[in-house]
Formats: sequence, structure tokens, C-alpha cells
Amino acid sequence: MLSVSRLCTLTPRISSQFLNTSSKSLYKISPIRRLTNISCRKPQTFWQNNLKLLSKSNGTVLLRLTSNLPQKSSKTVGYWLLTCSGMVFVAVILGGVTRLTESGLSMVTWKLLGEKMPRTQQEWEEEFAKYQQYPEFKLKNREMTLSEFKFIWHMEYGHRQWGRLIGAVFLIPAVYFWARGRFTPALKKRVLAFGALIGLQGLMGWYMVKSGLEERFHGENDVPRVSQYRLASHLSLAFVLYTLLLWSAFNELLPAETLRVSTDAVLKATRKFRMFAHTTKGMVFLTAVSGAFVAGLDAGLVYNSFPKMADKWIPDDILAYTPKLVNFTENPTTVQFNHRILGTATLGLITALWYLSRKRVLPRRAYIAANALLLAGYLQVVLGITTLLTYVPTPVAASHQSGSLLVLSTAIWLTHELKRLPKAI
Ligand code: HEM
Repeated sequence: MLSVSRLCTLTPRISSQFLNTSSKSLYKISPIRRLTNISCRKPQTFWQNNLKLLSKSNGTVLLRLTSNLPQKSSKTVGYWLLTCSGMVFVAVILGGVTRLTESGLSMVTWKLLGEKMPRTQQEWEEEFAKYQQYPEFKLKNREMTLSEFKFIWHMEYGHRQWGRLIGAVFLIPAVYFWARGRFTPALKKRVLAFGALIGLQGLMGWYMVKSGLEERFHGENDVPRVSQYRLASHLSLAFVLYTLLLWSAFNELLPAETLRVSTDAVLKATRKFRMFAHTTKGMVFLTAVSGAFVAGLDAGLVYNSFPKMADKWIPDDILAYTPKLVNFTENPTTVQFNHRILGTATLGLITALWYLSRKRVLPRRAYIAANALLLAGYLQVVLGITTLLTYVPTPVAASHQSGSLLVLSTAIWLTHELKRLPKAI
């Protein structure tokens, strides 16, 4: 322990070095911390890492230490990032409902800043006539009425407009915060990446829709749908954007506590646990991507039994396509089989992680996050099985899709809580 008196003897020696600190380095400088009870084995390193500014006021030397506690300004930025991540969450739900109600191919054109909503009867009829030129109407929806068309059009329009709203809610405050110098250099890079990802997501959405409008569907039994590769890319991109936004929001709003550990062995065990938590998070992501392939191929409508697939653990047609490799992304049976395996394996990892969390020394909130992850994981698998057994009804399937973001969020929270482990004892 470093006592106050020892601190006082250290201070004058290092003050001149820090007095020249420019005002630019004042990001996130906390109010003066209490200087008692600071655990510090290597004072030199401690000062280098934690002391950001010394200033003189009435001859008194003030110490300012960086802190994990969020500042008011960084909290505003944090709430903005949290809002953006929440809006991406809602966009994923809207996208899922749009797909499940088979509305995604109703708008056959795309404009970056927004399509005009038809207002008069004539405008609606013109819009409907455009849709009638494309395979989905010709092969599947020949009986569709104008009012049914209006419904699917509004669904797709809502999803697109929500995407644009995310762009605005991100961009306008970003410009303001940037101009006011509210971003650290690291956050500036991230904000640029978020902007690029949001733009890319819009383009990817249209690239996906285009694949369902192409004249590549022939015959009565050919179901016009978007490419499962593009659907999976669109969903994965949304998940990446969501992950990065939420992680950055946590940085500002819920900074990880620094764990205090007493021995090298405990530190090593906690590090291993952290690695395991990151692996589990990666598996959640992979399972979600595989789920997008299930959705893209309507593979939830084959083998609607669990745990066996038509009384077999491994169905006969699992490698029916040639070359063999395409089965993994194009054969509905294989795609569903993989998703089941990945889903249950991920649940196994989540359970093991929770069990290990009981035995490890972790930051306080990490225990709560591990509990939340366990709960979300089991809920997600129950929803997945229900989706399958009930032939993919929209409300259950949409809950299963949102559930995947819930699992991911709790995994992100857990790994974020484990961010600050000491480098050495
Ligand atoms: C951690 C476990 C799981 C995760 C993270 C997960 C995630 C996902 C995701 C993201 C989708 C795509 C939804 C969409 O784009 O609309 C999906 C679809 C699906 N999942 Fe899972 N899943 C998990 C476990 C399971 C399990 C165990 C089953 C059943 C055995 C299952 C059955 C399904 C089905 C049938 C679909 C297709 C639903 C549709 O067409 O909308 N999932 N899953």
C-alpha cells in the first residue's frame, strides 16, 4: 500500500514532468481521487499509467488520476452509442419480420435518401405494376390484391426508413460531438468505422434484395428468394455493427472494473476464463450466421422434429448435393443440421462458462453477466426448437432472431467486464 505521506514525497519529484501537459490530453480526466489505499506494487508504472496532470493552485500540488468512472460528457456520447446500438437491434427485428412476412421483394427500386411513398390510387397501381414485372409476383403471387401488396410494401418501406433513421441518428450527433472535441483519438477511428459500416449495411441490403429480383428463377416450383449468401452477409454485418456499438457504449457508460488478484495462479485462471468467454462469444456469432443460412433457404421447414431428424441422428440426404462442399451452404438439410449442432454446442459452452464463473475470481458484475448469458442462451435454444417444431410461425421465429442478439449482448457484456485484468501481479 502506498500511504498518503509516501505519495507526498513522490509528488514533487515527478511534478515538473507533468506540469507541461497540454490541455488536449485532458480527455476523461476524473475529479481528484482519494489518495488513500491505492494498491501499487510498482509506483513508477503506476504513475506512468494513471497520473495525467499535475497543476499548481495556491502553491498546492494537485494530483489528477485517470479513472474508470465515466464523465458527464463521455456519458452523453455513451448514451448516443447505446441508442444507435438499440436502433440496430430494432432494425434486425424489423428485417426478420420483413423476411418472415415475405415482404422484402415488394420494392423493386432503391434510392439512397429514400423512395417516394405512393399517395394516390394511380400511384399505388403504378407501383404494383412495377412489382408484377418481377419473378416473385409471376411465380408465386399471381393472386395478390392491391391491398395485400400495400401491406408488404409498407413492411419493406418501414425497414428501409428505419435504416435511414439510424444513419441520421448516428451522423448528426457524430458531426456535433466531433466538432466539439468530444471524441478521443481512438473513438474518432471507431466513429469513422461505424459510419462506413452503416453505409455498407444499406448497400448490402439493396445488393441482397437485387438477388431476389433477378430472372434466375424458372418453373412453378422455383421459389424466388434472396441469395442466402447475401442474407447471411447482411445479417452478419448488422451483428458486427451492433457488437462494436454496444462495446463502445459500455466503454463510456459501464467501464470495466480493474480486478485485484492476489496470486499469479489466480490471474492465469482468470485470463483463461476470459479467453473462454471470447471463444463462446465467437461461437454465438457463428451460430447466428449459420441461422441466417437456415432462414435464407427456408430450411426451418424441413425436418420439423427434435432432437432427431426424421428418426435419424444424421439424415440420409445430408450430403446429397455435389460437389460435397456446397451442401454446407445450399442444402437445407445440411444447413439445418449444422445450425442445430452449432446451437447446442454453443449452449454447452455457455453452460460450462457459467459453471466456471462460479469458481473463478472475477470482477463483481461479471458474475451477473454470466448469469444473464446463461438465461439468454437457454431461452434462445428453447425458442429455436419451438420455431422448428411449429413450422416457423412469424412471432416465434422473430423472437428467436431477436433472442440471438440478446445472447450476443450478454456475451459482449461479460467479455467487456473482463477487459481490465492486471498485466502482472
Ligand atoms: C445459441 C443458439 C442459437 C442461436 C444464436 C441462433 C440464432 C439464429 C439466427 C440469428 C437465425 C436467423 C433468423 C433470421 O434471419 O430470421 C436463426 C434461425 C433459425 N434457428 Fe436458430 N439459433 C440458435 C439455436 C437454435 C436451435 C437449437 C434450433 C433448433 C433446433 C434453432 C432453429 C432455428 C430455425 C428453425 C431457424 C429458421 C427460422 C426462420 O426461418 O426464420 N436455432 N437462428
